[in-house]
Amino acid sequence: MAICFFLFLSVISICMQFTYIRCEFRRIELTSSNEHVVWTLSNNNNTQVPGTVPGGVYSDLQKAGVISDILSGYNDVRTRWVAYDTWRYTGHFEVGEHDLESSIVNLVFEGVDTVGFIELNDVPIGTTRNMFVRYVFDVKQHLRIGKNKLKISFASPVEVARNRSNKHFAAPSCVPDIYNGECHANQIRKMQASFSWDWGPAFPSVGLWKPVYIELYDGAIIRSVTTHIEQKKQNWELRIVAHVESGTRKKHVIGYLSASLAVDGPQTIKVGRKIGVVTRDDGTGELELNMTVSLNVVSLWWPNGFGDQTLYDLEVSLKTHEKSEEICRKSVKIGFRTLEVIEEDASKGLTFYFKVNGYPIFMKGSNWIPANILPELGYDKSTVDSLLIAASEIHMSMLRVWGGGVYESDYFYERCDQLGILIWQDLMFACAMYPTDPEFLDNVTDEIQQTVIRLQHHPSIALWAGNNENEVALRGNWYNTQTQFSKYKEEYIKLYVDTIKPIVESLDPYRRYLVSSPSNGLESEQEGYIAQNPYDPHYGDTHYYNYLNDNWDLNIYPNTRFASEYGFQSLPSLKTMATATKNKEDYKLNSAYSKHRQHSPNGYDFIKDQINLHLNLNESDPKYFEKFVFYSQITQAMAMKAETEFYRQSQANWYTMGALYWQLNDVWQAPSWSSIEYGGKWKMLHYYAKSFFAPVLVSPRLLLTGAVDVYVINDRLVPLIDSKITIEFYNWSSLIPFKSQEHPASAEMLSAAKQMSLSLAEYNKDEIFLKFSLDIENVSYSPHNFIFPRPLKEIKGLKQPHIKITVENNRFKNRFQKKFRYVVNIEVDAVVLFLWLETNSLDGRFLDNGFIVTQPRTKVDYIIQKNVSAQELKKCITYQYYIN
Ligand SMILES: *[C@@H]1O[C@H](CO)[C@@H](O)[C@H](O)[C@H]1NC(C)=O
Ligand SMILES: *[C@@H]1O[C@H](CO)[C@@H](O)[C@H](O)[C@H]1NC(C)=O
Ligand SMILES: *[C@@H]1O[C@H](CO)[C@@H](O)[C@H](O)[C@H]1NC(C)=O
Ligand SMILES: *[C@@H]1O[C@H](CO)[C@@H](O)[C@H](O)[C@H]1NC(C)=O
Ligand SMILES: *[C@@H]1O[C@H](CO)[C@@H](O)[C@H](O)[C@H]1NC(C)=O
Ligand SMILES: *[C@@H]1O[C@H](CO)[C@@H](O)[C@H](O)[C@H]1NC(C)=O
Ligand SMILES: *[C@@H]1O[C@H](CO)[C@@H](O)[C@H](O)[C@H]1NC(C)=O
Ligand SMILES: *[C@@H]1O[C@H](CO)[C@@H](O)[C@H](O)[C@H]1NC(C)=O
Repeated sequence: MAICFFLFLSVISICMQFTYIRCEFRRIELTSSNEHVVWTLSNNNNTQVPGTVPGGVYSDLQKAGVISDILSGYNDVRTRWVAYDTWRYTGHFEVGEHDLESSIVNLVFEGVDTVGFIELNDVPIGTTRNMFVRYVFDVKQHLRIGKNKLKISFASPVEVARNRSNKHFAAPSCVPDIYNGECHANQIRKMQASFSWDWGPAFPSVGLWKPVYIELYDGAIIRSVTTHIEQKKQNWELRIVAHVESGTRKKHVIGYLSASLAVDGPQTIKVGRKIGVVTRDDGTGELELNMTVSLNVVSLWWPNGFGDQTLYDLEVSLKTHEKSEEICRKSVKIGFRTLEVIEEDASKGLTFYFKVNGYPIFMKGSNWIPANILPELGYDKSTVDSLLIAASEIHMSMLRVWGGGVYESDYFYERCDQLGILIWQDLMFACAMYPTDPEFLDNVTDEIQQTVIRLQHHPSIALWAGNNENEVALRGNWYNTQTQFSKYKEEYIKLYVDTIKPIVESLDPYRRYLVSSPSNGLESEQEGYIAQNPYDPHYGDTHYYNYLNDNWDLNIYPNTRFASEYGFQSLPSLKTMATATKNKEDYKLNSAYSKHRQHSPNGYDFIKDQINLHLNLNESDPKYFEKFVFYSQITQAMAMKAETEFYRQSQANWYTMGALYWQLNDVWQAPSWSSIEYGGKWKMLHYYAKSFFAPVLVSPRLLLTGAVDVYVINDRLVPLIDSKITIEFYNWSSLIPFKSQEHPASAEMLSAAKQMSLSLAEYNKDEIFLKFSLDIENVSYSPHNFIFPRPLKEIKGLKQPHIKITVENNRFKNRFQKKFRYVVNIEVDAVVLFLWLETNSLDGRFLDNGFIVTQPRTKVDYIIQKNVSAQELKKCITYQYYIN
């Protein structure tokens, strides 16, 4: 031991310069936003068009007019040649004399999609294999003063995947034909959904999807900061780790590391110490600092709906000496909260829930797929913003970033921190077995390290999950793997347990790493990682889809500890569909176009069957397709309402503690499980979610016996007392209830509680429906709820309504959202079911929609970016509703 140590020291003193930190950090941006950089995209077949960085081949070819709108018509398959071709991005830029004076000159690619061969001034610099990895190359020797040329030659991702599969096959052999997709996405570390999914087209993208730059410095820089925050007695104990880089080579870095945290009031907590570290062979190293923060100088960070999302600036700096000018710094915003995943003995099995700041919180939310099928557009801030705000507006407290997409942008997680949206973060492995050859594992190692280090400091990140559905796929033989079960199981453990788990747990020891989602959590681990029944309702999370039974019936849904996926499809509105096709012939359920867009086998039949269980829809109706679209949205909204309320009610007797429906957003105009259409239009489901996720909700359940159980759900940190439930009995033929009764209601904080049971035996169920309201002091928003004792197609007495819509002239502008707001009045003379307002020629939004109208007058706000007159708005409003 002694000798080794001695040798180590000698090596340092002989071969390594001591580097004092002098990082006069500068960057030469090589993105298109730098007017001195010119990028060109070309192939070997006479295509040469302006290139964009960050960007990609599909968007550049579209901009140049080589291909038309990729999401139009059949363009997903018509443009597939793009993915089979080989492309080059060539960039020309200038470097000044003083630029090369820095001792470290690195070329940094934040993200390369995917297999690229890089040359600088015709000298090979390196290759890239993983779109989720940042690549850093030392280019000091290769840059020239004056003109420089950077060339990235890409292989076809489809061909790379196929070639690798020939050597390292891992099931499945391909996606189903109905996807019009490409095979073997699992062979290439790339957004898995870019080879197609059941909700999306294949666009196997290629390009420089994140920024590219040259960074110049001396000494070392701080690349990222991670913070481990633990609550101990009266203090928060912070372990701050600066992840530094000293170029791309080993160096001895010495200097002074400090951190400052601006806490409440005019105070800043500062800590610092002298440091000396020998970086690794690749130039990376870690420097640590501890900081103690008294509990009473900071406020807690809470999930959306439970309190504020207070964030604090933590600045970490590296200097030569304590007193010298500050040279390198990195700032992150941190939040103080505790979060634990609680898996402890329940009456049977184990609980599975999130305890935040000491409180068990039922997670309400959805699943996030990439915001765009082209990864370079999926980071678009305004798209991300509008989706996350739409999630927060409907009381979501958690989104699951699903494992077939991308690790999202820093901006995405910053917004989640601000909005209080916790993130269930899958690692990017989904619906496949994965190869485990050394090259693959090696590239995954980098990906996981960089991702965890980049994202770890965000208070919004709740947990890491190794993959999407791969445990259950292997156990359930989804991909014909049964004969090789042990081989695949061994590989599964090698990848998610032996390779990934230790990396995540060492970089982020306080967050739970779940090996798979869904899984039985600890129980899956006990059972050797592939549980006998990964869907066991007594453990962990489940995914559940049922297209056959009556989805409006709460009694069909199985218990779970945590529903991390469940969903039902609907079609996008005609307005959204019109952005993909204007051909009238396409607007039929059995058109070639409709078939092309439906990737879920028998998808339309399942929708039709669900519609037919409740609604009257005649195939010879001249408006059949239009009604089918509308009814599909009603059916989806009612199905998700039933299932979500079942899960929320089941907090009372099963300790179900989460409901994340599949899926929030869309990547194209097609039937899917989303609640928001491609382009941002809210489906009826998104409006309904605002009610079924309401913090305080009266929620009835029609039992198979015909009786009605009434629950109250109180998702707040205070108990619900002295409140009352009003139940109004309506005849379908009248706006005046024929009976009304009141019941006291109460519930503990953060609970669901059954309040009463109600018999409907004395009523003619064809003729009536029930409306439930909850009156609570200090709660401004507790939505009404309804019970329809009979399928709507069988009800009697519902009248054709007369509907009058007027718009009030008192428009005003919301200073913050820069939007105009109008009040729309709805007057009716009969009960109206699912009244659905649209303004297809205007891009505004109603704040509520899909009304069950039981009052002669209803008001709803409409918001829009443009200043239109009340008259103009009134003219644009169209409506639909359901009637037998
Ligand atoms: C080259 O481009 C032309 C026109 O863009 C196209 O018709 C042809 O198929 C391409 N050839 C190859 C080998 O890709
Ligand atoms: C794929 O394999 C073929 C046949 O070995 C080879 O010609 C081709 O260059 C390979 N392509 C890539 C992208 O590796
Ligand atoms: C920070 O605190 C931890 C736990 O008390 C300790 O192990 C570690 O050595 C400390 N680090 C520094 C740099 O003081
Ligand atoms: C990734 O794969 C490439 C290609 O085989 C290999 O050269 C490289 O060493 C691997 N590992 C990393 C970390 O890039
Ligand atoms: C459907 O509509 C057609 C044409 O209007 C009509 O002849 C037929 O009876 C209707 N079918 C049902 C089941 O209502
Ligand atoms: C309602 O709010 C007022 C003022 O904040 C408070 O004094 C009162 O206790 C609250 N009532 C209930 C039932 O929470
Ligand atoms: C509901 O209306 C029907 C007529 O449409 C009537 O026959 C029936 O008695 C009414 N039921 C109640 C409970 O008022
Ligand atoms: C909106 O337009 C009306 C006239 O059409 C005008 O009187 C009003 O000032 C405008 N409001 C704003 C905020 O621009």
